[in-house]
Amino acid sequence: MAQDNSAIPLYGGSQSRITTSSLKNAKPSNEKWPMLTCYDSLTASLFDELGVPVLLVGDSAAMVFLGYDSTLPITLDELIPLVRAVSRSTSRALVVADLPFGSYQACVADAVRASIRLVKEGGAQAVKIEGGTRVTETVKHLVEAGIPVMGHLGLTPQSVNVFGGYKVQGRGDAAAELVREAKELELAGCFSIVLEAMPADTAKAITEAVSIPTIGIGAGIDVDAQVLVWQDLAGLTKSPLPRFVKRYADMRTTLTQAVNQFAQEVKNKDFPSTEHTYQ
Ligand code: KIV
Repeated sequence: MAQDNSAIPLYGGSQSRITTSSLKNAKPSNEKWPMLTCYDSLTASLFDELGVPVLLVGDSAAMVFLGYDSTLPITLDELIPLVRAVSRSTSRALVVADLPFGSYQACVADAVRASIRLVKEGGAQAVKIEGGTRVTETVKHLVEAGIPVMGHLGLTPQSVNVFGGYKVQGRGDAAAELVREAKELELAGCFSIVLEAMPADTAKAITEAVSIPTIGIGAGIDVDAQVLVWQDLAGLTKSPLPRFVKRYADMRTTLTQAVNQFAQEVKNKDFPSTEHTYQ
């Protein structure tokens, strides 16, 4: 029997797996929630325990996990093991997997096949796709195939070469175009939409125009949820970072100190001491 999670807070609340309906139900009550990217088992189980309701195995893994200089090179075969690690290590968070560049653009059949692999082999509960009007037919087919879809508008990094760089989108007349595309994505069946790098007013207009949750990243305060790449939030990634990133910790400094101290202790023969030695 379907469970009604509508009264349970999204962050840290229920024990059972968050569903796309729990997210949609949070919108009318104006409950704001966090989403984080995630690519490995340890962080997945920690974020899940903390109650982060949605974990995105984003193609940002290309840059922060695999060392590529954009999100374009990562393949489905490279992403699937990360999706599997995250889904295996969580019991509550909704796990969303990105459709990598090249896995869905050529035809709808490619998109359906790639999404099925992310669900079947990766264990994801939903997929994310970049684009507006050009992907609405694909979204319809995925939803018909039983796969929930998160949309992604604004600065969609897979189109960096068309944009001519990582530039803010949706300024001036382009704002109305994004609102129109968001409505099309909702109509096609998306359960939520990521809004990346756009003026706060544009994101607000989109959020008011659709009844599905919007998830901002560099889209101001008037959205339904916020997402960050976890290594950015934790202060592990190198500066300079985009304006929208807030570092909530300084893991780069913490890790630097730990590694330097370990190296020094190895050099001085202070490590391992008897405490860390088998007798
Ligand atoms: O790939 C990713 O991590 C993303 C988020 C930053 C929204 O698309």
